[in-house]
Amino acid sequence: MKYALIGCGRIAGNHIQAALDNGLELTAVCDAIPGCAESLLRKFGLERDRNIHRYIDYKQMFREHPEIDLCAVASDSGSHARIALDCIQAGVHLIIEKPIAMSIKDAEEIIMQSRKKGITVAVCHQNRFNSAIQAVRRARDEGRFGTLSHGAVHVRWYRDASYYRQAQWRGKWSSDGGCLMNQCIHGIDLLIWLMGSRVTKVYGAIRRRQHPYIEAEDIGMAVLEFADGTVAEIEGSTNVYPGDLEETLLVCGDKGTVKIGGPSATRIECWKFADRKTEDETVSKLDEQTENIYGNGHSRLYRDVITAVREGRRPCADAEAGRNALEIVLAIYESQRTGMPVSLPLSDFSSAEMEGIFDSGHQVGRRIKPGQD
Ligand SMILES: NC(=O)c1ccc[n+]([C@@H]2O[C@H](COP(=O)([O-])OP(=O)(O)OC[C@H]3O[C@@H](n4cnc5c(N)ncnc54)[C@H](O)[C@@H]3O)[C@@H](O)[C@H]2O)c1
Repeated sequence: MKYALIGCGRIAGNHIQAALDNGLELTAVCDAIPGCAESLLRKFGLERDRNIHRYIDYKQMFREHPEIDLCAVASDSGSHARIALDCIQAGVHLIIEKPIAMSIKDAEEIIMQSRKKGITVAVCHQNRFNSAIQAVRRARDEGRFGTLSHGAVHVRWYRDASYYRQAQWRGKWSSDGGCLMNQCIHGIDLLIWLMGSRVTKVYGAIRRRQHPYIEAEDIGMAVLEFADGTVAEIEGSTNVYPGDLEETLLVCGDKGTVKIGGPSATRIECWKFADRKTEDETVSKLDEQTENIYGNGHSRLYRDVITAVREGRRPCADAEAGRNALEIVLAIYESQRTGMPVSLPLSDFSSAEMEGIFDSGHQVGRRIKPGQD
């Protein structure tokens, strides 16, 4: 399968590694900044490989290499939708970095166009492939939790000014969002995937407390209501001084409780079920080692996408999964903006509509009267 990568920044190495791990044929790499593609290839000792074509314009890349089968989009979040739609028009299967887009309208356009063209689209929610997460999902599918009560995700991380100053797009409403859209969206995806029911209502609150140089939130909290009566809470932050503390997930039922921890949801911290299985002994000790906070999931996600394309089935983290995780973040934003719970599905909302929300003089919430804040 012939493969191309658009966007050769910080996360790009995980994509090249995943492509190599899965035997994809590296056909082209593209970055709008001249030299970026080259330095990425250098990290893998591939700088002398002239069969890998370098581009600064991905449209030219598709014109000159119509044989590309699969493309990954790892550019800044605000450009995902536009580039993804161009890839779909070019007839190329797609892996889009999270978030799938910055608005519901764009995410749904990606879903519609890809269906129309028979294109496979996956979104990089790679932590779904963590062994710990797969084990919880299996237990849930087998009904081992009994009647579910509630769930939680806590992403308690730290990012300082130098992190946000790495690139212009970071922390801006239209191109990134804040800690919920960038960092916590992985945990949100896992939470709703593991709870397994449709989210019907979202109560959210966000603040920007410690990073005045960004536009968006650095702390967000929310309560979710699901169609089956369960509830869940979300806490996501980049304010936990002086460094990443934890990412934890909790799923509670009347016959089972699981808590997952580790730097990127890779360690089982509690594994208790009323029924006993021989595998429980091993599973309860799962503690997958990772080189960095991005985990080991990219290669596994690629394997799933390649198989999905070959078998004509949907990938595990498909475009709908990307849309659903995005919808929760946008609903939390909308809830902050209105001061009200938000009912799902969201018809449309874009993160750019949050512009100015933390500026002085902006009234946070419809129900707050001047002087009551
Ligand atoms: N899945 C994960 O765990 C994970 C981890 C980190 C980042 N990400 C996501 O990956 C994306 C990239 O993040 P990053 O940290 O690598 O950012 P980055 O700024 O380091 O890299 C982005 C690159 O994309 C290039 N680019 C932008 N527009 C382009 C275009 N039109 N054509 C070609 N190249 C273009 C930029 O020049 C830049 O080199 C973001 O959406 C981010 O949220 C995901």
